[in-house]
Amino acid sequence: MTQVHVDETSGSDTTGDGTPDKPYQNLAYALFTHPQDVELLVRKDQSTPYDKPTASSLKKAVKGADGLKKKQQKAGEIAEREAKERAEAEKKLEESKKIVLTEDASLPKAVKAKLSKLAPLRGQRIRVSGWVHRLRQQKGLAFIVLRDGTGYLQAVLSGTAAQTYDALTLTLESSVELTGTLQAVPDGKTAPGGHELIVDYWKVHGAAPGGEEAFSNRMNEQSDPSILSELRHLVIRGETASSVLRLRSLLMSAFRDTLTAHDLLEVTPPCLVQTQVEGGATLFKLDYYGQPAFLTQSSQLYLETCLPSLGDVFCVQESFRAENSHTRRHLSEYTHLEGELAFITFEDLMNHIEALICETADKLLANPESAALIKTLNPSFQPPARPFLRMSYVDAIKWLNTHGIQHEAEDAQGNPIKDADGAVKMVDHVVGDDIAEAAERKMTDILGKPMFLHSFPAELKAFYMKKIPGTGEGGKVYTESCDLLMPGVGEIVGGSMRIAEMEELLAGYKREGIDPAPYYWFTDQRKYGTCEHGGYGLGVERFLAWLADRFTVRDCSLYPRWPGRATP
Ligand code: 4AD
Repeated sequence: MTQVHVDETSGSDTTGDGTPDKPYQNLAYALFTHPQDVELLVRKDQSTPYDKPTASSLKKAVKGADGLKKKQQKAGEIAEREAKERAEAEKKLEESKKIVLTEDASLPKAVKAKLSKLAPLRGQRIRVSGWVHRLRQQKGLAFIVLRDGTGYLQAVLSGTAAQTYDALTLTLESSVELTGTLQAVPDGKTAPGGHELIVDYWKVHGAAPGGEEAFSNRMNEQSDPSILSELRHLVIRGETASSVLRLRSLLMSAFRDTLTAHDLLEVTPPCLVQTQVEGGATLFKLDYYGQPAFLTQSSQLYLETCLPSLGDVFCVQESFRAENSHTRRHLSEYTHLEGELAFITFEDLMNHIEALICETADKLLANPESAALIKTLNPSFQPPARPFLRMSYVDAIKWLNTHGIQHEAEDAQGNPIKDADGAVKMVDHVVGDDIAEAAERKMTDILGKPMFLHSFPAELKAFYMKKIPGTGEGGKVYTESCDLLMPGVGEIVGGSMRIAEMEELLAGYKREGIDPAPYYWFTDQRKYGTCEHGGYGLGVERFLAWLADRFTVRDCSLYPRWPGRATP
């Protein structure tokens, strides 16, 4: 009689064959594999000899073998059923190739429409085009949620329309044209816009791949951020990303409306420049026909030149900052909304910035489309109350110290000073310190409302800022400058009054080690009819991060750039 060996320690049910060299591991498996008359021999491990199994272990093994047999039978049945289903599906697919859907010419002529404009077309035959945003196929029906960028529409394919080869192989993100009758959804059911399309004719414009390359296999909301950045061109098709971008567009219109209502004229300054505005450390340098040039950090200097020509002006322009900052509020390229106003005081400037923010927020809430987007993205959004809190830089330093908000100690070279145990030493703020992002954020989060920080020391600010006459705390010179801080984001606006006096400006260039020669046109402003003036720059992505409650400005830019990333 054939002997079948089982070694309960070193045997294997997958690679074993029952010989003494390749024993099985389980008696039940040995019995299941050799149901015929065999002699079973078992050992605990290699240190014990093979022996007959005990009666009780044999009884247990018979039960186990029985279970394995049933499992095998079941798996066989499932495989058979699946093979049958596959064959049926293949047959159905093959047959579907013969089904040709034609448009019934006797039906009323379809009206071509965008999805956001469907409400007045209920009951009519319409033709819409877009992308398959969601898809469910069951019982000979196909339910599509179509997306065209302006909105979403639920559509139902039934009968022949759901039996064509294209219908059976339809995939997410395929582009399609759907024609049919628009109906209100039955009571108790919901759908985007409250209606659905009963499709009588449709076609595929461009089929998206299925399988491995399927859209939903490329990424989802839980994918690693690096994948989402790489696939930003696909991410923007998602509901959240597209809502943010749509709100961004409405925000830009609202800003423009507010600024126009305040008599500011829009201008378009250049991006390629040969002058710095915010310090050499953050300049992107490039070769411009053999001459050094930069990507602009701010259009402010050009706006200043427009005042005598066009009056108060604003621009919406990309600004570039070569900062090696990987924070959630820094981009290498960002959209900069800048305004410049003539014959104003510092007080007027802050009032204007406040009006710009509040009136723009009010406009967005009054517009049903933007209001709905804000409600979805940031349900607890409250428009800011006026007037904004105003705190001088010197008072802010005191406030930080009384609230125990410290900053990392640095040596003269800017390196962190560490304690004996290696932890970075934290110290109180003193007048003259730059208030760092972390401290600024803690402060706005505690105060919980927009606030102006103003009157910064001249030594911390750019060359063009107007000085407050005399000296203040710590014997320092201060400037008519302000940063607007928002809870959750920090600084969203930086503004100041500008030096109107020629001599003061020349001293500013000198202090910052700037060669005045390339600034001749900016200096000329002080020569040909100077005036008191001031302006500001608002980071659009930061404003949007605040408005739409996004964690990072990267989600508020169409194709964000940050250190190391300039694709897609
Ligand atoms: O405070 P900043 O550097 O001011 C200026 O550039 C002035 N010349 C503007 C002016 O007065 N016309 O920048 C203004 C705003 C900041 O408050 C911030 O919102 C945004 O621009 N900003 C950035 N946004 C994203 N990424 C960056 N790296 C940014 N740097 C500044």
